[in-house]
Amino acid sequence: MSVLDRDDLTVFWETSEDMSSLQVSPQSVITSPPYWDLKDYRHDDQIGVSDESYEHYLDRLDAVWSECYDALDESGTMWVVVDTVMDRGDLRLLPYHIAQRAEEIGFTLQDMVVWHKPTAIAGMTARNTVNKKEYVVYLSKSEEHKFNELGSDENGVEDPAIEEGKPLGNLWRFPVKRGSVGNQVLHKAPYPMSLINRIVRVSTDEGDTVLDPFLGSGTTAYSALDLGRRCVGYEINQDFESVMEDRLSDLSQSTLDNAWQ
Ligand SMILES: C[S@@+](CC[C@H](N)C(=O)[O-])C[C@H]1O[C@@H](n2cnc3c(N)ncnc32)[C@H](O)[C@@H]1O
Repeated sequence: MSVLDRDDLTVFWETSEDMSSLQVSPQSVITSPPYWDLKDYRHDDQIGVSDESYEHYLDRLDAVWSECYDALDESGTMWVVVDTVMDRGDLRLLPYHIAQRAEEIGFTLQDMVVWHKPTAIAGMTARNTVNKKEYVVYLSKSEEHKFNELGSDENGVEDPAIEEGKPLGNLWRFPVKRGSVGNQVLHKAPYPMSLINRIVRVSTDEGDTVLDPFLGSGTTAYSALDLGRRCVGYEINQDFESVMEDRLSDLSQSTLDNAWQ
């Protein structure tokens, strides 16, 4: 039996532009979308391939955000980890475009959290500066939304977001996650578990469901299950199934059972 056959996890190997197969109302959406014209996830229907215009790419993402909006619980939130992108020398403000268009769908923009990546090195673009940040676009379905206070946080590094006795700040520091172990490339763009753990804990309680429309190697699923939540997700490329299975194999069903006692 696959480790993905668990009561607390459902993975749909299909496009998240149509989520009619979804049977649950998630408490939060936590995801990072495929970037436009940057990485090839080798699937004919993937979002963000090079022959797609930037506008068409945003339209396809809108379809996903719209499905997320409809599915979310009224008190739900959506967190999109994403950065600006280069379009033939021009910097595109993708996080702001996503935020603006999500508001047109009905979401309320709560904040543009900045994720400071102290260990980032010169990247894929020929910028004059080394890009040491990424954004977390934080949206809610309604004004009355779930936002838990963080008790102790597992982020080991010095973090400007955490000040004794003060609410969580919007400048977060987490080191970047390498997408490989030794020579084995797991995924081209995984995000760090510690970053997702924070969002899971802030946006959901034990037993709630987290939705990730772009699961990739399953970081969101791992974090949600490890913290006693449920997870449902979409990933168009089933080649990631074995990577996800590997990652989830050290989580037992009892993680959830215990969390619910
Ligand atoms: C930035 S990656 C997500 C990485 C993930 N957060 C992780 O930690 O591994 C985006 C993912 O979206 C997937 N994808 C692309 N188009 C899709 C679509 N239409 N529906 C569902 N998944 C899609 C890609 O295959 C890729 O794995």
